[in-house]
Amino acid sequence: MISDKIKNYAVGFEEYLSGLIREDSKEYSVVADACRYSLLIGGKRLRPFLIREFYTLCGGKGDHSKNFEAAIEFIHTYSLIHDDLPCMDNDDMRRGKPSCHIKFGEANALLAGDALLTEAFGIASKTENISAENLIKAITALSEYAGINGMIGGQTVDLLYEEKAADEEVLSLICRLKTGALIKSACTIGCLLAGADQKQINAAKEYAEALGIAFQMVDDILDETGSAEKLGKPIHSDKENNKSTFVSLLGIEECKRRAAELTEKAKAAVCVFGDKANDLIDLADYLCKRDY
Ligand code: IPE
Ligand code: IPE
Ligand code: MG
Ligand code: MG
Ligand code: MG
Repeated sequence: MISDKIKNYAVGFEEYLSGLIREDSKEYSVVADACRYSLLIGGKRLRPFLIREFYTLCGGKGDHSKNFEAAIEFIHTYSLIHDDLPCMDNDDMRRGKPSCHIKFGEANALLAGDALLTEAFGIASKTENISAENLIKAITALSEYAGINGMIGGQTVDLLYEEKAADEEVLSLICRLKTGALIKSACTIGCLLAGADQKQINAAKEYAEALGIAFQMVDDILDETGSAEKLGKPIHSDKENNKSTFVSLLGIEECKRRAAELTEKAKAAVCVFGDKANDLIDLADYLCKRDY
């Protein structure tokens, strides 16, 4: 089952992750502690898993994608730390534990996010056994999808539309960027590191685009209907922040229908890989039906 596969993957991945933050002086160990805390308290590890899946699917050998898997989880974790800050979504719980700023204070949470973002590129650069050309392409994909025209752009628009109602076009932009971009980055990086051809890269991007929007739609649905205990984060956060979401615009049922439709679109995109894409197909279904 895909749920077991991703959980098994997470065990080994977390072991690797746990050795990557190192401080040379106790004077600033608080920021290293904050990084380790947020990285290791949990998480589905979806983005690193997607890198590994596409890397293997496109013929990549061994675990040479592992530093990018860690790097993308660093960036994702930084985005969650900052997303929870009082100046953003102001959420006190994350991954089943007090948010980073509750545990370590706002300034340290801000710095931990900065540190994770910066360290991510150092770790990715230390990748071995991948050609310099493919490595640079993968680093570029990591930077571009996380930057202004990626996740940050999405987070910016997400906040702007707390003050006013977003239409469908704006909501698509928010979901595509704040969540879809990093998911697309993961799928693309897996392909690039394996030296995939353009047809494979295009299929991966198409899969990621549909999966990313569906993933955020389900996240928005769960914010309304889910359990804080299972999710490990507060529910009704979007309503409290007056967020514009597909749920607020279209209602739960229509949102569910669209998430299912996008899931089918994602599944169809990876047909070019034949039977080898079964995991990706199961993953899309699993994420659409998830309750955490
Ligand atoms: C949460 O992402 C933020 C969104 C983009 C919706 P995840 O649901 O992947 O969070 P973790 O990594 O499992 O904690
Ligand atoms: C955040 O979306 C996406 C990020 C880039 C962190 P949300 O604000 O809906 O994510 P949660 O619900 O706090 O995990
Ligand atoms: Mg947010
Ligand atoms: Mg949030
Ligand atoms: Mg949410």
